[in-house]
Amino acid sequence: PYKSAIPIAEALRRGEGKATVRGWVYRKRTLKEKVFLLLRDATGVIQLVVPRAKFPEAESLNLESSLVATGVLVREPRAPGGVELHVESIDWVYVGEPYPINEDAAVSDSEYLLDVRHLWLRSRKMQAILKIRHTVFGAIHDYFRRRGFYEVHPPMFITAAVEGGATLFKVEYFDRTVYLTQSSQFYLEALIYSLEKVYTVAPSFRAEPSRTRRHLTEFWHAEMEIAWAHMDDAAKVGEEVIGHVVERVLDERQDELKLLGRKVEALERAKPPFHWLSYDEAIEVLRKKGFALSWGDDIGADEERALTLEFDKPIILHGFPEKLKAFYHRNNPQRPEVTLSFDVLLPEGYGEVIGGGERIYDAKELVEKIIRFGLNPEDYQWYIDLRRYGSVPHAGFGLGVDRLVMWIAGADHIRDVVPFPRDIRRTRP
Ligand code: 4AD
Ligand code: MG
Repeated sequence: PYKSAIPIAEALRRGEGKATVRGWVYRKRTLKEKVFLLLRDATGVIQLVVPRAKFPEAESLNLESSLVATGVLVREPRAPGGVELHVESIDWVYVGEPYPINEDAAVSDSEYLLDVRHLWLRSRKMQAILKIRHTVFGAIHDYFRRRGFYEVHPPMFITAAVEGGATLFKVEYFDRTVYLTQSSQFYLEALIYSLEKVYTVAPSFRAEPSRTRRHLTEFWHAEMEIAWAHMDDAAKVGEEVIGHVVERVLDERQDELKLLGRKVEALERAKPPFHWLSYDEAIEVLRKKGFALSWGDDIGADEERALTLEFDKPIILHGFPEKLKAFYHRNNPQRPEVTLSFDVLLPEGYGEVIGGGERIYDAKELVEKIIRFGLNPEDYQWYIDLRRYGSVPHAGFGLGVDRLVMWIAGADHIRDVVPFPRDIRRTRP
């Protein structure tokens, strides 16, 4: 009978006539002669009104049991979605065991919910977040493809650090050790000489030893690289892709944002141009706010948070001192102590979501900086090679997609927006 079922959202739209729906029992309540079952599918929830006399099993049914119900749709303003189904026949597809998540567990213990994440994914909250994630990833692909970027597929097993050796994961690879990629940047830099504008959306891995609200050991990374381009060109793509994604979510996911209690004003304001702020200006702003900072100091999570609360749009923070950024960043020829680098910071305290900039494209300059940073040019042979045959100015960035979803959904923790999060302690489920 489940083949003849219609989606619950469709049943709510129809609001009358006979219908069959199928799904999982989300809530249950007994009132005199009736059992009210809230039935959930991927599209929504509907209230089933089940006569107790005819279906005595309904009263003791465990949550998350699966069933198919046929009956008559009736408009009822007090029911969720304004429609209920007066049930005439039920096919009990699978009567479940007692469900280990009840409402108390759901609100009180987030570690427990992580232990049972394989089941918690069924919650309406996770459902809403996963739908927003789906929209975000689709919008990223659409943005790049419509603007003439080619999608490319770099490897995940790599042999040279992009973002520093400290956070590399080692992998046994036959008779030797390799690493999991931290960023596909170097591979994208190789690919621009073939395709000029390239992007990829793939996992990146970092052995982050601390548990923070915005770090995972495995995250989704949207990275792009453009030939014949400078820092500003890359930063503008960053503004546009975020603006495009947010607009799409506001278009398609109002119900989910509402279910999550997300206020959308900050999202509505996230239209390009963002607020451009140099590192020098940021230090001034932060000193006025009482941070004891001098030029050259790092802008950490607390500082980022304070900056984002000063402005009501995302920030393009640019021109970081050389020692704060990885070796591949091109130094500003007019001011060699700073790099042509930028971060994009999300508002409302969320902070960094993009890191990027212009790359060194001269072979000699690159080798010198690798040595100045205490690294070994031999480890970067093919990367240096890219500069030896028709090198051109180029720039790109990496966007942490989970962080973008976290802000859009208004989540407190990055773990909340990933179906199976990975951090230092957690690799299960
Ligand atoms: O700033 P990052 O380290 O820059 C790079 O990896 C460049 N090679 C990217 C490029 O230019 N192609 O990382 C880029 C973004 C960060 O801004 C952040 O949003 C995200 O990746 N990110 C993380 N997200 C979750 N958990 C982590 N441990 C992350 N580390 C970085
Ligand atoms: Mg960064």
